[in-house]
Amino acid sequence: MAQINALHGTISIPGDKSISHRAAILASLSTGKTVIDNFLFSDDCLRTLDAFQAMGVQVKKQDQQVIIDSEGASKLSAPTDAIDLGNSGTTARLLAGVLAAMPFQTELVGDPSLSKRPMKRVSQPLSMMGATVEFLTEDGHLPMKIVGGSLKKIEYDMPVASAQVKSAILLAGLTGQVNVTVTEQTKSRDHTERMLEAYGVHITDENGTITLKENQVLHAKNIKVPGDFSSAAYWIAAAVITPGSELTIERVGLNPTRIGFLNVLKRMGASIEVIQKPNMMNEPVGTIIAKHSTLKATTLKEEEIPTLIDEIPILALVASQAKGISRFHHLRELRFKETDRIQATVQGLAALGVSIKAEEDGMIVQGQSRLHGGMVKTFHDHRIAMTAMIASLITNDAVTIDDYDCVKISYPNFFEQFNQLKQPEHSPKD
Ligand code: S3P
Repeated sequence: MAQINALHGTISIPGDKSISHRAAILASLSTGKTVIDNFLFSDDCLRTLDAFQAMGVQVKKQDQQVIIDSEGASKLSAPTDAIDLGNSGTTARLLAGVLAAMPFQTELVGDPSLSKRPMKRVSQPLSMMGATVEFLTEDGHLPMKIVGGSLKKIEYDMPVASAQVKSAILLAGLTGQVNVTVTEQTKSRDHTERMLEAYGVHITDENGTITLKENQVLHAKNIKVPGDFSSAAYWIAAAVITPGSELTIERVGLNPTRIGFLNVLKRMGASIEVIQKPNMMNEPVGTIIAKHSTLKATTLKEEEIPTLIDEIPILALVASQAKGISRFHHLRELRFKETDRIQATVQGLAALGVSIKAEEDGMIVQGQSRLHGGMVKTFHDHRIAMTAMIASLITNDAVTIDDYDCVKISYPNFFEQFNQLKQPEHSPKD
């Protein structure tokens, strides 16, 4: 029987996944040489680099840097084969936006999980702009063929809150050199807008209506990627739920559209201190100090969902340790992630003793659950795997998962840092 140890130490968070994708894309669309620092070398982000390499961009990887040399968007060439996107939804949707404006045809394929995720949400606006998007086997799913070309401007009201769809439209406007206006009901992550602004592109956001002006070109600019808040969330949760713990988490991106988990935990009574550091490429960054806390249950608000959309599994674990019943609704989008994350979270946490119930659009979590060891089925979803591992910090018996490898999707050194953290005499640093 393992003993539950208090966690102490400092963790340095690897680069942000969403920002790494965007850095690879915008660097490839710029003329000249870009050095991207603290790039996240995860399976998903490597798919984006591979895609642009297949279109003639020079990509060199060294240590934590990527060096991209490009002749700009107008010089991209047709790939010789279909582009394989693996598990990466962000690559699929953002790349579709770029390809919509390319004077060639491309076929996009993905792994079985990605091939089940909805693509009509991007094909529809891109078709309205003038691209031809064809689904090759099943309507609305990969594989899909994009025949790009000359685009027309668009004013688009987003039917779902999705930064991937918003970014696809912005990238189509940028590459196609046409004016685009996108209106969001609920604000989704704004990394694309912030990065474009850092490049000097004319882009405005007025009460949720984002406008990108036509005829803008990018010139190479070095990029430093902040740490991924979604990765930091696992360590924040670990500190907050494990008795006697205090963790310092460094170099964390603190974009307000990403830190809903932090705000909700504070509302639940968590002891979390944030020390702001200088911005990186228009992105706020800081150090987070999280301590074990007595928590109370919470109910999520609809408008905060996009700001914590990837943190629901780990938030459900935290809620299982709070006093009272937590209610998570407005989560229909979770059914379309790497797996059906409502079902996977409920099944995984229930296997460890949490009293948790799935609802059509969310879940109800009973607090003060006493967790036990067990086997968690990940459905090859990185965020389910990492949540189960953090749960194991407060179980006496072992927690096992059916796929350890899937963490490479977003956090390749997760287990290295996890194992260091469990040895009290060491401070894990990457
Ligand atoms: C992402 C947007 C979100 C998020 C995903 C990354 C992005 O997806 O869940 O992990 O980088 O734009 P949606 O756009 O589907 O909400």
